[in-house]
Amino acid sequence: MVAKIISGREVAEKILTTDLKNRVDALNKRNIKPKLVVMLVGDVKASASYVRQKEKFAVKAGIASEVVRFESSATEDEILNKIDAINNDDKIHGVIVQLPLPDHISITKVLNKIDPSKDVDGFTPTNVGKLFLGEETLVSCTPKGIMQMLASTGVDLTGKNVTVIGRSNIVGKPVSILCQQQNATVTMCHSKTKNLNAKLSDADVVIVAVGVPKFVDGSQIPEGAIVIDVGIHNIDGKLCGDVDFESACEKASAITPVPGGVGPMTVCALIENTIIAAERIN
Ligand code: GUN
Repeated sequence: MVAKIISGREVAEKILTTDLKNRVDALNKRNIKPKLVVMLVGDVKASASYVRQKEKFAVKAGIASEVVRFESSATEDEILNKIDAINNDDKIHGVIVQLPLPDHISITKVLNKIDPSKDVDGFTPTNVGKLFLGEETLVSCTPKGIMQMLASTGVDLTGKNVTVIGRSNIVGKPVSILCQQQNATVTMCHSKTKNLNAKLSDADVVIVAVGVPKFVDGSQIPEGAIVIDVGIHNIDGKLCGDVDFESACEKASAITPVPGGVGPMTVCALIENTIIAAERIN
């Protein structure tokens, strides 16, 4: 089998320039101009590049964005005070704090400070709890983008076996809940999982988010499975994911590439969440 490539770049472009653009136009008619603020602390190279992509996608959908930069020496109080000001600014609908943060700043304290109604990353305890309970919420961006990419393949997850590798708060845990909400049977795997191959053997969908280059290869993928690769690594100047793309392509029915797969969908979901936050204003 030669896998169909699920182009996150194309799916995101379509969502941004049609559905999201239309929703922004409707908001503008109500005199609401959706605005996203990205807080960037320090000078992590990868973070700066992600933030640039966020600004570019904001332009495509027609929303406003602003990057607030802090030196890596900024104090926790400075960050918390800025979040407070953003929480109280009616012109700002969504805020994210780009991770990772310098070690002297508590991620927990920072996330807890964000008003859940502006938490367009879906990282606050309130929004994570609502997701867990199946209540309407701002769903975190990578899991949301993954579900949109699965939908783009036309797959109905009801009764399907989904194997998730990686149990992070940002990807593995929330995507497992979203798949269960669509009636999939989910198997969660992680660094202590024994006999990973057995857990993969009857998977209809494999989602890999472990942060290890080429952790899974084609020999472990069941014939015809859909493969979602969340990883992104720079190995000797060449980008690759958590999945060995070439060998996986020979087994999967559909697979996300790296780059151009999950990455653009994550950013698209962030823009959509900002629009949702703005739409909720009455
Ligand atoms: N760093 C890497 N991915 C993300 C993300 O989705 N949101 C934030 N805030 N930081 C990140």
